[in-house]
Amino acid sequence: MDYFELLRYRKSTRKFTDAQISPSNLTTILTAANSAPVGSNLYRDIHLTVVQNRDVLDKLSEAAAKRWEDKAKVKKIVGDMPAAELSQKSYDPFYGAPTVIFVSHRRQDIQPGIEFSNAACITYSMHLAAAELGLGSVFMWFALESMREIPELDNTSVLKLPDGFEPLLGIAVGHPAQALSARALKTDRITVNYLR
Ligand SMILES: Cc1cc2nc3c(=O)[nH]c(=O)nc-3n(C[C@H](O)[C@H](O)[C@H](O)COP(=O)(O)O)c2cc1C
Repeated sequence: MDYFELLRYRKSTRKFTDAQISPSNLTTILTAANSAPVGSNLYRDIHLTVVQNRDVLDKLSEAAAKRWEDKAKVKKIVGDMPAAELSQKSYDPFYGAPTVIFVSHRRQDIQPGIEFSNAACITYSMHLAAAELGLGSVFMWFALESMREIPELDNTSVLKLPDGFEPLLGIAVGHPAQALSARALKTDRITVNYLR
C-alpha cells in the first residue's frame, strides 16, 4: 500500500476476533517498532513487552476497570471518542485483543518528557504496520494511566520489566471484527497557524 492509501485505512479498532495474530505478523510489527526514530538514538532506553496471555491481560485490566466506574471522570477522558462503551458496566481496556504490546522506557530526567515522545513514535510505527497487514490496533493509554492512578492496583510487576523501566504506552493488536475500510483523509482535524 502506498503511504497515503495506508493512512486511509489506519483507524483505531475496538472490536477484535479471538484469533491470535501469526508469529510472522508479530515479527513485522516488532520490526516496525525497531524502525521508529528515538531521541538521541537511545534505543537501549526502550523495552517492549508482548503479552499474549489472557490471564495476564485480565490482571492488567483491573485498574482500568476500577477507574471506569468513575463515570464523571470517564466522560471527561473520552473527549470526542465515540462514547458507546460509556454505558458498559465492566470495561476491558484491551477490547478483547489477543496481543498487547507495551512500550516501556528507562526512567530518566536528562530530557524530561522525551520518553513519551519516543513511546508515541514507536507505537505509531506499530499501528501503521498493523494496518498494512490488515490487522486492527488501538493505542493503549487508559490502562497504563489507570495503573499509575490507582497505586494499590499497580500491576507493573506483572509485566516483568527490567529494573528501572516504566510502561508508558501500549498497543492492542488483533484481527478486526470488521475488516479495515478506507476513510477519506481529513485536513481540518488539527488547527494550524502560519508565520510567513
Ligand atoms: C497517545 C494516545 C493514546 C490513546 N489511548 C487510547 C486508549 O487508551 N484507549 C482507546 O480506546 N483509544 C486510545 N487512543 C485512540 C484515540 O482515541 C484515537 O486515535 C482517536 O479517537 C482518533 O480515532 P482514529 O484513530 O480512529 O482516527 C489513543 C490514541 C493516542 C494517540
